[in-house]
Amino acid sequence: MKPQTSGELRSMWLNFFKSKGHAVIPSASVIPENDPTVLFTTAGMHPLVPYLLGSKHPAGTRLTDVQKCIRTGDIDEVGDASHLTFFEMLGNWSLGDYFKKEMIAWSWEFLTSPDYLGLDKDRLAFTVFEGEGEIPRDDEAAGYWMENGVKPENIYYLSREHNWWGPAGQTGPCGPDTEMFIITDKEPCGPNCSPACGCGRFLEIWNDVFMQYNKTADGRYVPLAKKNVDTGMGLERTICTLNGVKTVYETDAFTGIIAKIAELSGKHYGDSEAVTRAFRIVADHLRTATFIMGDPRGVSPSNVDQGYVLRRLIRRAVRYGMELGMAEGFTCEIAGVIIAQYADVYPELRQNEAFVLEQLKLEESRFARTLRQGEREFDKLVSRLGESRVIDGLSAFHLYDTYGFPIEMTRELAAEHGLTVDEKGFADHFAAHQKLSQAGAEQRFKGGLADHSVQTTRLHTATHLLHAALRRVLGDDVAQKGSNITAERLRFDFKFGRKMTKDEIAQVEALVNEWIQADVPITMKETTVEEAKAEGAIGLFESKYGERVRMYTMGPYSKEICGGPHATHTGELVSFKIQKEESSSAGVRRIKAVIGADPNP
Ligand code: SER
Repeated sequence: MKPQTSGELRSMWLNFFKSKGHAVIPSASVIPENDPTVLFTTAGMHPLVPYLLGSKHPAGTRLTDVQKCIRTGDIDEVGDASHLTFFEMLGNWSLGDYFKKEMIAWSWEFLTSPDYLGLDKDRLAFTVFEGEGEIPRDDEAAGYWMENGVKPENIYYLSREHNWWGPAGQTGPCGPDTEMFIITDKEPCGPNCSPACGCGRFLEIWNDVFMQYNKTADGRYVPLAKKNVDTGMGLERTICTLNGVKTVYETDAFTGIIAKIAELSGKHYGDSEAVTRAFRIVADHLRTATFIMGDPRGVSPSNVDQGYVLRRLIRRAVRYGMELGMAEGFTCEIAGVIIAQYADVYPELRQNEAFVLEQLKLEESRFARTLRQGEREFDKLVSRLGESRVIDGLSAFHLYDTYGFPIEMTRELAAEHGLTVDEKGFADHFAAHQKLSQAGAEQRFKGGLADHSVQTTRLHTATHLLHAALRRVLGDDVAQKGSNITAERLRFDFKFGRKMTKDEIAQVEALVNEWIQADVPITMKETTVEEAKAEGAIGLFESKYGERVRMYTMGPYSKEICGGPHATHTGELVSFKIQKEESSSAGVRRIKAVIGADPNP
């Protein structure tokens, strides 16, 4: 039976892959734990990178899940029919297990069998890699599609731009993919109409990536001994296509949220283009914000990193919500609907509900207050501009710094007045005041595979020792709230109600250094969540009952559930120094720390 709702598609997907021997694993956090290259989890494969690179996954070699994903790179496009900043991705993986033949047969079965999607075979199109240089055309994939009954005219051979995945860095696993499309009733846009032209006749629903090469530092593609499969299907988009509706906002992922906005604003979705766009922006942004704050590693709005993206999302939603005429407090009402809608699938939303609502309320009222002042300031600014049609960098920074206008908002307001913003000037002022410039943050949204360099690994190990030392010195209430590692430093957020004293900081530092000096071996064991807990392991217990997890032990000092990777001995860290202890948000402290230079770089 064709699934009609997100829930039906979710369970159909997981059951299908379960029946093919896959272990169902839970969605990872939307905030990557040890990946400095991106702020958010952007695809189902993202949390699995260490395993795609060869680490053994405790749940086996066949995995399936539904992953919460966030992509904020195209935030300005939200409001059109298809761009979402949050979406769920259905995925399955072979870690050196099955490959092309099996995957293509299963994709065909899932798409066409009346027990699953039951799609019309003649209304499906497929793309495969056309080949380039030393890499041959993927006739293997095309051949398997045809073996299953696909007509040759429904197979399109496309370039690297369309049918190649990875590596996101300079080197690493990569390979051709084959993408699956539904052919709509829309007329071909011309004689060369194909899934590549983007005219809307072909709607992509699924992507099978075949990681069969390793790109080496000298630019060669060496076939991998252990080949992987990584597939992804966007849940919202697929349900939209299956329902035959025009936009994701007309699917069950959004109808409840849209109804709430209508109730609170007295307006109707579809009243006018501007109203429809505002409905979509409010719905999309608050859904994403709710998932960011409702995450086990949830953050609060701030001026850096994930917190900054969150602030932008909430403030943009508030601005459009006010335009729709909703009264203050509307963000919490809408978040309530979102949490109720998703709590069964993502119980963390219910667990963190109080935090989500409190943070939303705070940010909304903070922003509403400054918005009015800021808009007056903006109008003054515009009247001062005279002939110039450009808002200078310092003024844009002033709006940001004093009135909390994210630069994106200044840009939008400027555009509404036919003006532009001196972005470079703004960035210079911003960079002078912030460690991390907005330009840097944007860069990071585009990142992909993590770089598991030695330095990152060593800092990750230092994070475990720091966590353990904090608990010794401050008590067992200390709990990790977030972690972020760059090539230079580690950052660790934890629940703790007050500033640490100088003495406490010195004690923690001394403990970690003592444990580094002890140079104990670091061991890993695969076990169940329950056994790990019984052995006293700490860590985010987001795994399901009975699930197999990895537990890292560092001598008698630290025991934590974690995916790795880690140094082999604590001595590899050389030394440890806390650079900063500060407040991150209410009840959460933040430590930045560095370690000694790698003795064997
Ligand atoms: N990594 C691929 C994608 O994001 C398949 O999961 O489309």
